[in-house]
Amino acid sequence: MIDSIEQLVKRALEAIDQAKETTDLNEIRVRFLGKNGAYTEILRGMKDVKPEDKPRLGKLINEGRVRLETVLAEKEAAFRAAEMARVLEKEAIDVTLDKSQPIGSLHPITKVKNEILDIFVGLGFKVEEGPEIETDYFNFQLMNIPKDHPARDMQDTFYVSENTLLRTHTSPMQAHVMLSQKPPIRIVVPGKVYRADDDASHSPIFNQIEGLVVDKDVSLAHLKGTLDTVAKALFNQDTKTRFRPSYFPFTEPSVEVDVTCSVCGGSGCRLCKGTGWIEILGAGVVNPKVLENCGVDPNEYSGFAFGLGVDRIAMIKYGVPDIRSFYENDVRFLKQYK
Ligand code: PHE
Repeated sequence: MIDSIEQLVKRALEAIDQAKETTDLNEIRVRFLGKNGAYTEILRGMKDVKPEDKPRLGKLINEGRVRLETVLAEKEAAFRAAEMARVLEKEAIDVTLDKSQPIGSLHPITKVKNEILDIFVGLGFKVEEGPEIETDYFNFQLMNIPKDHPARDMQDTFYVSENTLLRTHTSPMQAHVMLSQKPPIRIVVPGKVYRADDDASHSPIFNQIEGLVVDKDVSLAHLKGTLDTVAKALFNQDTKTRFRPSYFPFTEPSVEVDVTCSVCGGSGCRLCKGTGWIEILGAGVVNPKVLENCGVDPNEYSGFAFGLGVDRIAMIKYGVPDIRSFYENDVRFLKQYK
């Protein structure tokens, strides 16, 4: 019996040694250690063994069994490790290879817009957004531009129907905010606006950032201080601002704001057409009529507002000569601003 036990262990070890994959090991386990396996067979033979031989034989059988189980487990672990190594090898990703997926980037207008908004948020402004399709009432009438007002000619309008239109500026958001929030108000509103206009410096779609501050005792000086700070943050610390008298129906007084040309620093170049200055926005003290239209008491509150051309600033920052390049979606152009 001792011989047959040793024979059995030897045969099993040989089989394990020759196994090629996990299924072979499973088969071996069943064949030798299973319910009807060779080992079980031997155990059954124990009933015929003499009582004094039982402890010795039993020990031998058990040791053989433990041995086989250990070797099987080791072999199994080795197969698993080899399989894992194979999978890792096959599914390896070469992270140095960047040809498989073209990586996108933010549109230059989005980048400049985010940069400007960041500056205003740093000054305590809140960001609001609103609809691109507006009513005549919000786009014009609440902004103190009644029907047949000549100022409507300043903003060639795309009409959707008689009383709805593609907003020509972000200013109607002044009204939306004043009608729904109580002063103090300190907001910036980025958004697309539309005008029937198309040349190197005018695109039928472009981007503005509206600004509105309404509080007690707000004056033109606050407007100047705010815009001066923003211009320095946006271009560089040497940038100066200049206010020129202008006209908008919704502000009184109204100004157009220029910054010193960031290319020549003010001495005059092609970008600033030799003047040293570049216009970036329209602004002014909120017309008391607009406050009144929007439910704010002009005897208690005053405000300033501005409408900044994001495209113009992007053109200045990146030296882009034609505004329409931003809207043609030519990836060769867009890729330059990654
Ligand atoms: N809405 C004006 C425009 O689009 C800009 C502006 C905004 C002017 C706010 C003054 C105050 O031209």
